[in-house]
Amino acid sequence: MSRKRTQVAIIGAGPSGLLLGQLLHRAGIDAVIIERQSARYVSERIRAGVLEQTTTDLLIEAGVGDRMRREGLVHDGFSLCFSGARHRIDLRELTGGKLVTVYGQTEVTRDLMAARSAAGLETVYEAQAVNIADFEADRPRVEYSKDGVTHIIDCDFIAGCDGYHGVCRASVPSRSITTFERVYPFGWLGVLVDQPPVSHELIYANHERGFALCSMRSNTRSRYYVQCAADEQIDKWTDDAFWDELRMRLDPQAAEALKTGASIEKSIAPLRSFVAEPMRFGRLFLAGDAAHIVPPTGAKGLNLAFSDVRFLSRALIEWFTERSAAGIDHYSQTCLKRVWKASRFSWWFTSLMHRFPDEGGIKQKLQLAELEYLVGSRAASTTMAENYVGLPFDR
Ligand code: APR
Ligand code: PHB
Repeated sequence: MSRKRTQVAIIGAGPSGLLLGQLLHRAGIDAVIIERQSARYVSERIRAGVLEQTTTDLLIEAGVGDRMRREGLVHDGFSLCFSGARHRIDLRELTGGKLVTVYGQTEVTRDLMAARSAAGLETVYEAQAVNIADFEADRPRVEYSKDGVTHIIDCDFIAGCDGYHGVCRASVPSRSITTFERVYPFGWLGVLVDQPPVSHELIYANHERGFALCSMRSNTRSRYYVQCAADEQIDKWTDDAFWDELRMRLDPQAAEALKTGASIEKSIAPLRSFVAEPMRFGRLFLAGDAAHIVPPTGAKGLNLAFSDVRFLSRALIEWFTERSAAGIDHYSQTCLKRVWKASRFSWWFTSLMHRFPDEGGIKQKLQLAELEYLVGSRAASTTMAENYVGLPFDR
């Protein structure tokens, strides 16, 4: 058995854990990351890719924004497609200059992994039987095994950055936590293809056959999604079947311009809204997907995770440098205000754009009426735009 001490034990080497580790390191605070998967597995996960300005600012502050600034695609608008026509939402004009950056989460993760490795910081990959203990007292610890050896890490704080299926939230006594969940009656079938994107901006489509989204990772690599049944089987979908379905859900110009090819990745993701309250339990803090899940429609998942990490890193730095508990005492309340607003927007956008088979034809009629109103009303478009680019931290 081995035993060591650190200031902060971070569970999970996804974007939340890696960014937290990077921000703490830059403040001179020691943190060890314990991850159950391999580094290769983590670095190859395909996820969304629209970054709010607060996210890009945070990555630059963390010293990992150089490649994102070189390779990220800055977007000042996106389109809504319905009733066979596309309508542009002008983010820059409607929000007084705010923009988003299209840069894959996979790339963000790789940039954070590279920075951590270059700094010689400890990340334990392929850790098994990870458990956390005594986090409701003031001497928390983490236990895990690796290569047949049991390891114990004594620490001052534990950051639960281990995602929706992680051990940290599951370790909180049920009397101390309340969860809120909505599972949507459909999923997203996603395809990655090395072809130029159909449009230089994202297209979100509401069609009677279901939702579709045209996105990208670069000017030569595109990411497409079509709504599918919640229990859809991936092997039912050939590439040709996917391209045919996507074309049917787009406006004629986009359908004509679509450049197809062999998928380099194809997967189905379920959609859910989930929030756990509170997000702090003594010396344990939940951040990112460990505390909340949003449906991907509003591209809020990564941005919300990084919003938590921004608050948590500042609170921990304040504790270690000033011995002030103000930040950690307000962490949960501060995060949840933003979490619920992003959850509301993601739920609203998902409800607006998807086909709900059990709600009959009236649901789509109401959706189309709302979409017509939205694109015809500056007030409604502004509401859409200011949520899409991300609300300011003080609102
Ligand atoms: N022990 C150690 N590590 C664990 C454990 C465990 N018991 N359980 C899960 N993990 C790891 C996972 O392998 C994963 O690498 O924790 C990490 C959690 O990463 P994410 O699920 O990506 O969550 P987060 O870092 O909060 O990032 C949120 O990822 O899923 C997307 O849409 C989501 O964009 C959002 C972002
Ligand atoms: C993506 O590129 O994967 C993506 C973009 C925008 C979304 C969701 C996913 O709203």
